[in-house]
Amino acid sequence: MKAWLAHPTHAELPLHARIQRAVRQLIVDGALGPGRPLPASRALARSLSVSRDTVEAAYSQLHAEGFIDRRVGSGSFVAEVKAFSTGQRVPRREALQRHKEPSLSRRGAAMSRSGGVREQLVPRPFAPGVPETRSFPLSLWERLERQVLKETGTQALLHGDPQGAEPLRRAIADYVNLERGARASADRVLVLTSSQQAMALCANMLLDPGDRIFIEDPAYYGARKAFDAAGLECVPIPVDDQGITVERILSQPPKAKAVFLTPSHQFPTGATLALDRRLALIEWAGKHQAWIIEDDYDSEFHYAGKPTACMQGLDPHDRTIYIGTFTKSLFPGLRIGYVVLPPQLVNPMTVARTLLDGHTASMAQLTLARFMEGGHFGAYVRAMRGIYSERLDTLAGLVRTHLSAFVEPRIPIGGLQMPCVLTCGLPECTAIDAARRVGVELLGLSGLHASGDGKAGFLMGFAAYTPIELDVAVRKLAGALQAAKSP
Ligand SMILES: Cc1ncc(COP(=O)(O)O)c(C=O)c1O
Repeated sequence: MKAWLAHPTHAELPLHARIQRAVRQLIVDGALGPGRPLPASRALARSLSVSRDTVEAAYSQLHAEGFIDRRVGSGSFVAEVKAFSTGQRVPRREALQRHKEPSLSRRGAAMSRSGGVREQLVPRPFAPGVPETRSFPLSLWERLERQVLKETGTQALLHGDPQGAEPLRRAIADYVNLERGARASADRVLVLTSSQQAMALCANMLLDPGDRIFIEDPAYYGARKAFDAAGLECVPIPVDDQGITVERILSQPPKAKAVFLTPSHQFPTGATLALDRRLALIEWAGKHQAWIIEDDYDSEFHYAGKPTACMQGLDPHDRTIYIGTFTKSLFPGLRIGYVVLPPQLVNPMTVARTLLDGHTASMAQLTLARFMEGGHFGAYVRAMRGIYSERLDTLAGLVRTHLSAFVEPRIPIGGLQMPCVLTCGLPECTAIDAARRVGVELLGLSGLHASGDGKAGFLMGFAAYTPIELDVAVRKLAGALQAAKSP
């Protein structure tokens, strides 16, 4: 009760009201049950170092509200509190907790059970997929934001175009055409808050519940959850060192209406989808009027030569939806992603997004547009590519030196994380738990396989951690795995 009284959020209330609310809370929570005696006002006043009048004022109010009974000569007692309309006893805390399960729709319950996609707020090595943010040029960003505000004035405070701010759509189209070999124009770009939102939109706008979608096996968990949440049937298709295998897709009698792909750096294997497979899938989509959902999430970070061009630019049938995001290339808190759409989808998808969130925040869009137009985006990505490539080399060297008795690294040619296969016989969950106990995060590989026949192993994110942080964490991990192996 003393803690409640001292809490800063209650500081505005007069003292007697604070005491009255604190006692009322204890009654409502069930900590003081019906019939329980309250301390005598003189005793409570002494223990709280307040005057007896103050406690009397609090008790009078509780009595007036029906929370307590006062009996002359014997003191104050918690009343039998009845719910006003039903006459039922007010549920106590335990009962409330027992009934906490909300009544959700089947879809809502499935979404809640999926656990969603929650990323770490303060990432620890080796949380995957996280870019370095500590060296981001914040003062430049702030200057550009001030320029935007100065030029747009209060206009930027009003609602914006649901399709996205035109300068940003133009900058994105120029970027994907030049760097990713896409065929885009500003009017085919839809600015969203994330690739996650893009996947949810595609799932709901292009397919019906029960429809099939081919997905990579293993696959990005965020995509699978988005498709599951929309009631789609995910059909897992094996991935090899050249990306998704296409034989089953091309010959599959139970047709699927779409395929989800990460062709640049397959998540999580890092494989690049071979050109002949890309062309075969494009032909399949054209022939069956199916959709290709291309998630190009981290293609900016390719370390060996130039990345292969995206599939969208190769598709003459306009069946590819290209998804991009600034979560990896800039910073996750920005919450800007986008899709490049076939012309016939621009209007329906834009309308659909208005039902979700209206539009992406205008200030962030306009600042990002300036960042891109001014050449800062290109320069920043080039600089980070160099840093990440060095960090990958560092991590690969450290794994070879300290972890060769436990894992085999699969060094990727791009991306922000490195897969490692466990070779020491430790179960994957044992390795992950042991790592977590020493402050090291690993994402298990086998959970990313729908078919359950994936190799045990884990992903090690490297981009967000300095060489020293990588070194410390690899040594900790080696100690933890050693201890787990010979407890
Ligand atoms: C394959 C893949 N796609 C998309 C994303 C998420 O991007 P966004 O933050 O834009 O939803 C991630 C993030 O880890 C990813 O690994």
